[in-house]
Amino acid sequence: MIGRLNHVAIAVPDLKAAADTYRGALGAKVSEPQAEPDHGVTVVFIELPNTKIELLEPLGENSPIAAFLEKNPSGGMHHVCYEVDDILAARDKLKAEGARVLGDGEPKIGAHGKPVLFLHPKDFSGTLTELEQA
Ligand code: CO
Repeated sequence: MIGRLNHVAIAVPDLKAAADTYRGALGAKVSEPQAEPDHGVTVVFIELPNTKIELLEPLGENSPIAAFLEKNPSGGMHHVCYEVDDILAARDKLKAEGARVLGDGEPKIGAHGKPVLFLHPKDFSGTLTELEQA
């Protein structure tokens, strides 16, 4: 069921500083910042040869990454995202296996314009796990 690693997301307190580090010290190709008000984050995408890195900065009052950054003030790995062919079939299988789907359990449109779901970190070795329909 599980497919490619689509991205690793890193929450950061200062998106410009983090993007500059990737662009400068690491020589990466970094996108322009993209505001995602529905998800409470501003994002930049870093294209690597085999996957992507997303840098996430809080946007707005109730950002879902605000509490994470309070615990990890210099930033940190926030989630991994795996591709699946059929997100509803994947969700139903995972629920049958006892995994908890966050929110109302219905896919939302993610930063790449594709349906995504998040799975409870306690069910996946302490790692918030996103599924994206490829
Ligand atoms: Co993501």
